[in-house]
Amino acid sequence: MRLRRATCVTCYWHAGSFVAHPYSGGTPTALHPVAAEILSAFDDWIEPAKAAELLDHLTPETIAESVDALTSAGLLLAEESPEAARDEQIAGQWETWAPEASFFHYATQDGHYPTEEELAACEADSAQWDTPPPALFTDYPDAPRVLLPRRPGDLRVPYDQVLYERRTHRDFTPDPVPLATLAVLLATTFGPVDFIDCGHGALFRRTSPAGGARQELDAYLAIRNVSGVEPGTYHYNVHEHALELRSPGLTAEEAAHLCADQAWAGDAAFLVVLSAVLDRMSCKYRNPRCYRVCLLNAGHLAQTFALTATALGLGPAQTGAFHDTPLAERCGLDNIGHTPLYVLAAGWPHPDPRRAPPPARLSTFIRTALRR
Ligand SMILES: Cc1cc2nc3c(=O)[nH]c(=O)nc-3n(C[C@H](O)[C@H](O)[C@H](O)COP(=O)(O)O)c2cc1C
Repeated sequence: MRLRRATCVTCYWHAGSFVAHPYSGGTPTALHPVAAEILSAFDDWIEPAKAAELLDHLTPETIAESVDALTSAGLLLAEESPEAARDEQIAGQWETWAPEASFFHYATQDGHYPTEEELAACEADSAQWDTPPPALFTDYPDAPRVLLPRRPGDLRVPYDQVLYERRTHRDFTPDPVPLATLAVLLATTFGPVDFIDCGHGALFRRTSPAGGARQELDAYLAIRNVSGVEPGTYHYNVHEHALELRSPGLTAEEAAHLCADQAWAGDAAFLVVLSAVLDRMSCKYRNPRCYRVCLLNAGHLAQTFALTATALGLGPAQTGAFHDTPLAERCGLDNIGHTPLYVLAAGWPHPDPRRAPPPARLSTFIRTALRR
């Protein structure tokens, strides 16, 4: 029977071991690094005996044992097996984004979810709580700060109006956004609504749902055009309802450049960088799948931001395209424990937008496959 190395395999060193991880199925397996050479002899369908000829510096016993182990780990697949078909299909489907995205997607699938009993045992295991959890709030006590006004904003706009009027805006007027408007937007989106007892202390809840209520996402602002606030990058301190200066100055060119050279980002009055404090999530949720939850949480906050900005008359926008390293640097983030995930933006919407997409017309639909 001919065998082939699984196409969907990522190899790495972890905790001192060389691991081959077949992510279309199979088991991540610690191997001797020589196994990589054996695997590469199976680049294409081949009889194990023929592969052994290519590996003539290894003993037949070593090769036979390795082939058995690699096959049961799902690293070598049998020709015409359902596993081989699935591996090929996944490799084909994910080709554009492989290996980074496909590995993350499949390697974090179908994990073990703790039972009620396991969760209770874990809660009772005081050793887990020996290291104090990270602080509930991020703050920079020595930073110069702007205490924000606390006047409640008028958000009594009909729900359907907000929902249907929300659009991504890429054209803004040069009018500054009043500080009071920014303050309402920040408090509504990121401020605590209430506090709960999680058994090991308090957590807070926001207007958006958040996996485990860990609130690992902080808001950093790159402000260019807000009345009463010098241009610069700031951290929104949700505890104090204040802006803490991270670094002074910001030009439209720099704001645009940070957002992957998108000119509209330079025209926005301010950007909001959603940045994850990873320990807040990982100290409780140790499964790597929980990184997905951080990304999902960012999406929830972004939607609340967009709807609230719309209700306040602002034009919201968002981008997944940004230069991570300089953006983190500009916000004073180490990009290790505190790392940017998503960039939001807003300003006053331009009455005559140039960058808004035109509506689809008959000629557009003619060029569109509406069904298979
Ligand atoms: C996660 C995400 C990333 C986006 N990234 C960009 C971007 O990099 N540049 C951009 O101009 N628009 C970006 N957008 C805006 C989308 O293009 C926009 O939402 C889409 O065209 C639908 O229009 P609407 O938001 O007005 O409904 C992004 C939207 C989302 C949700």
